[in-house]
Amino acid sequence: MKTVTMVAPVNIAVIKYWGKRDEELILPINDSISGTLSTDFMCAKTTIQASPQFKENKFWLNGKEQNFDSPRLDSCLKEVKRRASPSCPILNWKIAICSENNFPTAAGLASSAAGYACLVAALAKLYKIEGDISSIARRGSGSACRSIYGGWVQWIKGDRPTGEDSIAIQLAPVAHWPEMRVLILVVNDERKKYSSTSGMKKSVETSDLLKYRASECVPKRVEAMKEAIFRKDFESFAKITMEDSNQFHAICLDTFPPCVYMNDTSHSISDVVHTYNECKSSNRVAYTFDAGPNACIYLLESETEEFLSVINYVFPPSSNTGYLKGLQVRQKPINKELEMMFQEKKHRPGALKYIIHTKIGDGPRMVEDSLLNDAGLPKNL
Ligand code: DP6
Repeated sequence: MKTVTMVAPVNIAVIKYWGKRDEELILPINDSISGTLSTDFMCAKTTIQASPQFKENKFWLNGKEQNFDSPRLDSCLKEVKRRASPSCPILNWKIAICSENNFPTAAGLASSAAGYACLVAALAKLYKIEGDISSIARRGSGSACRSIYGGWVQWIKGDRPTGEDSIAIQLAPVAHWPEMRVLILVVNDERKKYSSTSGMKKSVETSDLLKYRASECVPKRVEAMKEAIFRKDFESFAKITMEDSNQFHAICLDTFPPCVYMNDTSHSISDVVHTYNECKSSNRVAYTFDAGPNACIYLLESETEEFLSVINYVFPPSSNTGYLKGLQVRQKPINKELEMMFQEKKHRPGALKYIIHTKIGDGPRMVEDSLLNDAGLPKNL
C-alpha cells in the first residue's frame, strides 16, 4: 500500500482567465496572472492511497462519496499515468482519494483551483512524475494550474493545439513582496450563480467585447502587471487589478443572457475602495471579484488596520465573534476624517458574513496526517 497526503493553496487572479479555445483540454484564450494565498487559512487537503487489495477506485470530497467517472478527474488521472514510468509498480493498483477544504465551500469561494492542484500534486508524488505538472492540473480546472506554484504566477496561454505549452510559471516567490496582504470579504448572499465553466462558455459564444479584451487589452495588461509586480509598484498593481476585474464583469454583462456575479454589496465594496483611495490621494487598496459576489482585496500590511476600521464601520458585523478570521490585527475605531467620508455609506449589520485576512504563500506541500485509514476509508465519516 502507498499513501500520499498534500495540501494546496487557493489563488486569486489579478488578470483574469475568462474563455477557452479548447473545452476538453482546457486551453484559455488569454494569459492570466494571480497571487497564491497562504495555506494557513485556506487550502485543500488530499490523501491518495493505492493498494493491490482495493477492488475499485473511490473518491470522497468534503465527507461525501463522489462519482469516480467525472471527465475532468479522468483526464487528470490519465495524463499522470501517461507521464509515469511504465515500470512504476503501482500503476495498475486501484486508488482511494479523499479531499477536504479547510474553508466553507458554501461561501462560494474558489475551491476547484486548490482542489485540482492538490489532487494532481498528490498523484504526481504517488506515481513519481518529474517536471512541470501545471499542464496536468489545468485539465482539472483552468485556474488550478496557477495553484501549483507559490508567490506570483502567470498562466501562459500557449499556442499549440495539443496544449503542452499552456503552463503556469512562477513570476516571483513569496519573499519578493512579503508586505502584501489579502482580505476576502465574504458577502452574505445565498443566490445560486452560474459556474465559471458555463459562464465563460456563454461569453465565448456571445460576447464581442471578450474577443477585443483577449486580443487587445490582456497582452498589454500582462506586461504592465509583471512590471508592477517586479518593481513592487503597488499604485500600478492596484489600478491594473481593478481595471481588469471591472472589464471581466463588463464582459459578463455583454454575455447573452448576461451572467451577473456582483451584487449590490459587491458594488458598495468597490465604491468604498475608490472613496478610500481618493481620501489617500493614491491607490492604497485594490478589489477584484471572481465569478461570485465576494470581494478579494489586495493591500499592503501598513494599510490593513486603517482599511479594516473603515470596513467594520461601513459593514458592521451582526455579531462580533469570528467576524475577522485568519491573521489578527489590532481593531481600531475609524478616525474622524474617514468617518465624515463614509457616514452616508453605512450598511445594516450583517451585509458581510465574515472576513478572512491572509497573505501570499507557497505552492502545494506534502503533510503527514492522512485523511484515510489503512482500509482506504475516510477517517472522518
Ligand atoms: C473568474 O478555473 O473555475 O476565477 O477552467 O472551467 O474550471 P474552469 O474554470 P475556472 O475559472 C476561473 C475564473 C475566474 C478567473 C480566474 O481565476 O482567472
